Amino acid sequence: MLSKISDLIISPQPISQIIKNHLQIKTVRLISKKSNFKPFSHIQSLPPDPIFDLLEQYQNCKSTNKVNLSIGEYRDENGNPLVLEVVKNVEKDLASRNLPKDNLPIDGDPKFYEEATKLLLGPESKYIKEKRVCSIQCLSGTGGLRLTGELIKRCSKNKTIYLPDPTWVNHAPIFKKSGLEMKIYRYYNNGLNFSGLIEDLENAKENSFVVFHACSHNPTGTDPTEKQWKKILKTVKKKNLVPIFDTAYLGFSSGNYDKDAFAIRLAAEQEIPSIIAQSFSKNLGLYSERIGCLSILCDTQKEAENLRSQLKAIILPMYSNPPIHGSLIVGTILENSYLIRKWKAEMKEMQSRISEMRSLVYKELTRKKTKRSWKRIISHSGMFTFSDLTEKHVKILKEKYSIFVESTGRISMGGINHNNINYLVSSIHEVLQNEHFSIKR
Ligand SMILES: Cc1ncc(COP(=O)(O)O)c(C=O)c1O
Repeated sequence: MLSKISDLIISPQPISQIIKNHLQIKTVRLISKKSNFKPFSHIQSLPPDPIFDLLEQYQNCKSTNKVNLSIGEYRDENGNPLVLEVVKNVEKDLASRNLPKDNLPIDGDPKFYEEATKLLLGPESKYIKEKRVCSIQCLSGTGGLRLTGELIKRCSKNKTIYLPDPTWVNHAPIFKKSGLEMKIYRYYNNGLNFSGLIEDLENAKENSFVVFHACSHNPTGTDPTEKQWKKILKTVKKKNLVPIFDTAYLGFSSGNYDKDAFAIRLAAEQEIPSIIAQSFSKNLGLYSERIGCLSILCDTQKEAENLRSQLKAIILPMYSNPPIHGSLIVGTILENSYLIRKWKAEMKEMQSRISEMRSLVYKELTRKKTKRSWKRIISHSGMFTFSDLTEKHVKILKEKYSIFVESTGRISMGGINHNNINYLVSSIHEVLQNEHFSIKR
């Protein structure tokens, strides 16, 4: 062992050997000190999340033909993440201003959440004018929904929540975390199951909460028409239900943000107390910034202030306050009409390519007389199509063609582009024409 520096100088051994010996002795000492107390040794490993796991498999796949149609993230013509031009320009400007890194308030940046609420409800909304909306910055759509669950647990006598069947895979785990009583309402049966939906709302427990996808329903790509929304909200009002609008894809259905916000604005017009979780992950491509806004339509200004204080009490011990970068980007864009126009044009471009890909996939599969009906690919809208590819088809697509699709057959249309569409269509065709293909177990 080294006792003094002179050992190094006079030792006949090379220095590297002396250090190695020294480290070995240290390690042996540490091992001999290891405690018998093993508080985590009984803990089992959990299976990975299927969607993030599939993404990892795609990232590790070496095929040059690989296509990622699993996670709901829009990709450019080469399958790479797309950063919008308007975002790049705002970020350059922000970087040149040497802004401080101080903490935001617990409920976030007021410039951001006030602008986000104007965008959502329209600047002329009576809720904004009468200060009857409680809006706060949150950790994107997921964070807004998670806070909603906690708020219901903390403040509502009724803790029943209805989810559409099927719905986004994370809805049930989010509301389960808050211990809410979860029920489902019928939503899809090879198309919108409108009569089932209305019947289930009619039979719902009064004063319950109901999750709606404002547009671009995930996973089915199937939304109610404006006429159907009117009937849905009439039933909601009659039964005193509280809608929770999940708005992860505003702008992705029609290419027009205002049009996609139809159901939310109708609820506001009809004075239906509603909760809205707004996300900027998809329509501004800000996935990793985790930027969103939670808005609650209230009866009075006082009620809105009371709710704000409750939300702050939930947030403080959870994550203290939100990060600033995403709110600076979105706040800067939304307070400038020129930048809003730039953003909306880019959002329209993303939506248009998805629509074009829907038409091309449909045209090609129909021309090839590929088995199954592909009509739904053009009747669906938004990021997803609920194909009737089975789990077995999906497996073959992954193993033989390096095309990654979620096991339910849900296809993320944002991953299809002019460069991979022919490969995708011919692969789907081959899989369905040769149903005897075997798969590795
Ligand atoms: C329906 C739905 N809601 C919410 C989210 C959450 O998105 P984020 O937390 O990135 O805003 C997603 C993401 O895929 C989604 O599909």
